[in-house]
Formats: sequence, structure tokens, C-alpha cells
Amino acid sequence: MAWFKSKEKKQDFAAQVDFTRLPRHVAIIMDGNGRWAKRRGLPRSAGHGAGAENFRTIATYCKEIGLEYLTVYAFSTENWKRPAEEVSAIMGLLKRYLLEAIERMERDRVKMCFFGDLSPLPKELRLLCEQTREISQHYEGVQVNICLNYGGRDELVRAAKAFAQDCVEGRADPNHLNEANFSSYLFSCGVPDPDLVIRPSGEVRISNFLLWQSAYAEFYYTDVLWPDFSKADLLQALVAYQARSRRFGGVGR
Ligand code: IPE
Ligand code: IPE
Ligand code: MG
Repeated sequence: MAWFKSKEKKQDFAAQVDFTRLPRHVAIIMDGNGRWAKRRGLPRSAGHGAGAENFRTIATYCKEIGLEYLTVYAFSTENWKRPAEEVSAIMGLLKRYLLEAIERMERDRVKMCFFGDLSPLPKELRLLCEQTREISQHYEGVQVNICLNYGGRDELVRAAKAFAQDCVEGRADPNHLNEANFSSYLFSCGVPDPDLVIRPSGEVRISNFLLWQSAYAEFYYTDVLWPDFSKADLLQALVAYQARSRRFGGVGR
């Protein structure tokens, strides 16, 4: 088994990916930080730190291979349920991550956006999100969307409320509501739906991520924990994606 695993690891997935047929949009549920830390006898916060580092590596790699959109789940509307010290460690790490991202901005040149209600986040963090977004908006190449205090249901409720408000104020008409214009009320306004949703860590669930947008996404699960999820793991997911037959309700080819 060990031999088989190590042989599998050495596979050259890059040679198997057709880089002319990449998905436009890949979304990742960055899960498994806590278990990664536990296996090493470290505090959960160390896992979140390692996860943040890995996010930088994978985001930069996505730019390198020419992906258009990468959306990552960093903190959900449900993650506030965690012990206060873990939540505050995550907020601290996010702050540190964004400060470093701003420092490295000219080198990495990654366009960053945020999905989610940022208002309950610590003020300093909110301002850093805003600053990161503003400075990076003109960069070409991959657009990275970081989901912070994001929940798919919360996003849909907000969209419904905003639409209702527009109706009350005469800017919208319920008779003209359709899927396309409803999408414009979502955090993801203007971003194409994800083609591929990857969940590391062995969990096989959606956990309130991009509920509307992933209607026709391909799902890919792996047991690898997020901090260990390598460029080769991403390529392996792309190989799997390219072998799928997407029919969108039709009969395919
Ligand atoms: C994902 O890793 C990070 C966040 C949800 C913030 P977890 O912290 O959920 O890691 P596990 O699932 O406990 O291993
Ligand atoms: C989903 O992971 C949220 C993020 C990765 C940010 P969770 O660890 O919170 O999901 P559950 O609780 O296992 O469903
Ligand atoms: Mg988890």
C-alpha cells in the first residue's frame, strides 16, 4: 500500500492536464487545518497558520497556470460557533496574512476580492480587506475571491432583501426577476459560476458554500488536509475534472 501511495504521488499530473481546457473558475473549501495541527500535536491555530501559507502558494500557482477565478472558503457564517480563542486566532492570522499580502502585492500581483458580510469583523481587518481589494483591482490574471463570514444561505437572504428593497423603491419589478438578474444581487455578482468545487480533508459536504453558484459545478473530494494540499493535488483535481462529462441537463455528446 505504501509503495502504491508513493508511486501515485510521483505521477506527473502536469503532463495530464490540458491547459487549454482549464475550468474558468475553481472554488476550494479550505478544510482540515485543525486535524493537520492535531496530528502534529500543535494547537489548532498552527493549522490555520499553515493553511493560510498554503493558500498563498495555491493562489500564486493558479495565476501561474492561467486560471481566471479562484474562490476560497476561509471563514463561514457558522464558524463563529467555535471557541472564542480559536475565532480570535483566525482573525489575527487573517490580519497578518493581509498585511503580508499588501507588502508582497507588487511581487504576487494577485487581484483579490471578498465575498461575505464583512461588517462583524474587527474594524482593522475590515479596513485591510478594503485596502487589499482596492490596491489589487488593476492586476491582470487570476481573480481570487476570499469568502469571509460567508454563508450561502445568508447570501441568498441578503439578495432577496436587497431585491425586495429595490422593488419597494421602484428600481426593480418582481415580474422581471429572472436567474440572471437575481445573480447580480449576490456577492459573486459578475463572476461566472464555479466549474469545479474542491473539498480537501475527507469531508463530503457543501457546508453552506456557494449554494446558488455551484448548481452545475463538478465536485472533487480528497482526503488530503488543506495545509498539505499541494500544486500536484490541484493538478490531480484538474485531471479528474477534465475527465468528467458535463451535461447541464442535456444529453451530452
Ligand atoms: C478549516 O479548517 C478552517 C476554518 C473552518 C476556519 P478546520 O478548522 O475546519 O479544520 P478541521 O476540519 O477541524 O480539521
Ligand atoms: C467549512 O469548513 C468552512 C471553511 C472551510 C471556512 P467547516 O470545518 O466549518 O465545515 P463543517 O463544520 O465540517 O461542515
Ligand atoms: Mg473543518
